[in-house]
Amino acid sequence: MTLNTHAFLASHYVNMASGLAVTRATAILARDGLVTFDGVHDRESVVSLAGRLLSPREHRDADADGVTIISERGSVAGQLGYAGFGAAELEPHTESSALAQPPRFLMLVCALPADHGGESYVVDGAAIYSDLAAHSPRLLQALQEPATVRFGNPGYWGSVFEPTLDGRIRIRLRLDGLEHFTEPAAEAVPLLRAVISKHVRELPLRRGQGYLLDNWRMLHGRRSFQGPRLMYRILGDLVADHDFPLGFQPPNARAAA
Ligand SMILES: [Fe+2]
Repeated sequence: MTLNTHAFLASHYVNMASGLAVTRATAILARDGLVTFDGVHDRESVVSLAGRLLSPREHRDADADGVTIISERGSVAGQLGYAGFGAAELEPHTESSALAQPPRFLMLVCALPADHGGESYVVDGAAIYSDLAAHSPRLLQALQEPATVRFGNPGYWGSVFEPTLDGRIRIRLRLDGLEHFTEPAAEAVPLLRAVISKHVRELPLRRGQGYLLDNWRMLHGRRSFQGPRLMYRILGDLVADHDFPLGFQPPNARAAA
């Protein structure tokens, strides 16, 4: 683990055993879109921690307690939309992009890190947006054109960057073969990929470590790996979501604020 990676994990860390953990986690999530934590060593503890923060969303792959076990499941991973159950690199994406209202939050906890590779990573949509705004506003505009990208099949027609009613932006993306870009958004995809790769931040989780991220702001993915690897995932919405900001603020609005 590099010093930078360690600093990135540490700068978003909340001790979930402390009395003010939920308040602190919510504040850091609102500021950065990401919280890291540790000390969660079994499925019961994952469900218990999630219960303090999230109302779990139902998901195709989740069990009754809201947990999806992310592990290698052989040939299942060959089907479109099931790449998470393989050992290959998982391209940066948002969760449940085919839904009109994807779950706001994603919690991932490491039960068993891979022997080689398998590092989780995140990419801040606000950083991608700011980079595009500074260097290629025309292509950024193309990525905001409504109903130019189909996410999933039959899926949802939307855009990578979607303005919200209160002037903020939310991000939606998948690059697993179940996306269909039309013009003008299609022209921007090579640049989008290049900009995303500039802003990848690795979170090589150890056993018991995890993250909670804002699925309307952050992309997530993982490196390819070898050997067994097991993660717990819970999707949901914040229990106390009043006043929680949607997505992220675009740079012009930040300058004007
Ligand atoms: Fe995912």
